Amino acid sequence: MKQRDYSFTFGQALSQVHILEQFPLPATILEDSGAIPSQGILLVCDTNTEYIAKKIRGSQNLPLCVLECGEAGKCWTSIERIITAAKSAGLGRDGLFVGIGGGVITDMTSFAASVYMRGARLCLISTTLLGMVDAAVGGKTGFDLLGIKNLAGTFFPASHIYMPMDALKTLPSGEWKSGMAELIKTAVLDSAICNEVSRAETQVSLDKLKALGPVSIANGIPSALGELIERAVLVKGRIVEADPKEQGTERALLNLGHTFGHALEAAAGLGKLSHGEAVAWGMVRSCELGLALGITPENRAREITEIIAAYDYETAAPHPAMKDAAFFMQALAGDKKKKAGKLTFVVPDAQRAVLVSADRIEPQFLEQIIKGELQH
Ligand code: GLY
Repeated sequence: MKQRDYSFTFGQALSQVHILEQFPLPATILEDSGAIPSQGILLVCDTNTEYIAKKIRGSQNLPLCVLECGEAGKCWTSIERIITAAKSAGLGRDGLFVGIGGGVITDMTSFAASVYMRGARLCLISTTLLGMVDAAVGGKTGFDLLGIKNLAGTFFPASHIYMPMDALKTLPSGEWKSGMAELIKTAVLDSAICNEVSRAETQVSLDKLKALGPVSIANGIPSALGELIERAVLVKGRIVEADPKEQGTERALLNLGHTFGHALEAAAGLGKLSHGEAVAWGMVRSCELGLALGITPENRAREITEIIAAYDYETAAPHPAMKDAAFFMQALAGDKKKKAGKLTFVVPDAQRAVLVSADRIEPQFLEQIIKGELQH
C-alpha cells in the first residue's frame, strides 16, 4: 500500500495524518516532529500495544510508559504515571510524547502532553479502527473522572498521527465491532466534504460499506476497508477544521448515535457493551426520531438501519442489555454534551444530519422510541 498523507488545520494547529502499511520508525517520527533525542522522547502504550512500542523503538532504548489497558485505566492515576515517566525521562517542553494505542491511550497521552510544562510535542500511533476513524483525529484529549467519561480534557491536536494498517491485523473482534460503528457514522456524514467531491460521490462511503460487509482479515486488510478508513479520516478532519472546539453546530454532528448510545452504555452497566455497539443502536434510534419528526426520509432511515444490521449490530428496541428504561432516561437527561443546558440529538436528514434540540421532543416520545413502542 502506498502511504497516504493528509494535512488538517485545527484552529492554530497543523495536524498531519499518515496512513501507511507498517509501523513508523523512530527516525521518521523524530524527523516529522522536528524533535531530537536529547530533548527527550517518551513512548506511551498499554499492555496490548507494548509489543508495538517495542517494535517501534527497535534497538533504541527509548523510555517506555506501559499502562493497564481498558477504560478502567483512563483515570488521573494513569495521567500522573505518564507525567512522572516524562519527568524521569528528562523531557523538557520541547520533548516528544508518542502515544501508541487505541482511543484510551491516545486520549490520555494527548492530555498529558497538553499539560506537561504547559504543552509539549505530541505524535500518535493509532492502532485500532476506532482510533483511526475517530479518536486520534481532531485533538480531543481526556480522561474519566467522577465516573463520567472524558469529564476532564483539553483540545490539543497531535502534529503527526500515524495509522499503520499492520496494527489492524491483530485487532480482536470486539474492537472491530466498536470501530465499525464509527466508520458507519462517518459515512452517514460523508457529504460534509461535498465541496470537494460531486454530490453523487457523497453516497460512495455508504455504498462501499454495503459492498464490504463484516470484515475478514484472514487474507490481509481488504483494500475497500483501507479506502473507507481514509475517507473517514478526510471527512472527520474537514468537519473538525470547520469547528475545531465544537463551538458551532458542525463538530457536534459527530455525536450522531451518541446521545442514545451513551445512555445505553450507562443503562447496560459501563463496560457491558462496546462503545460501537451502543452507538450503532443509537443511530437506529436517531433514524426513528428523525422519521417521526419528518427530518429523515424513509429510504435514508431504511438504508442506514440495513447497513447497521448487516454489520451484526442490534437494531431493535428495547436493547437486550438495557435493564431499566427509567435509568436509561435518567442517563439521557444527564448527557454531558448538552447545548445551553438542553439535550441535543443528531438526526440524519436527506444528505447528512442536523441537530435537534430536545425542546422539540416530548420525553414520553423518547421513552417510546427506546422501548420500541413507537407506532409507525
Ligand atoms: N469523537 C467526536 C469528536 O471528536 O468530536
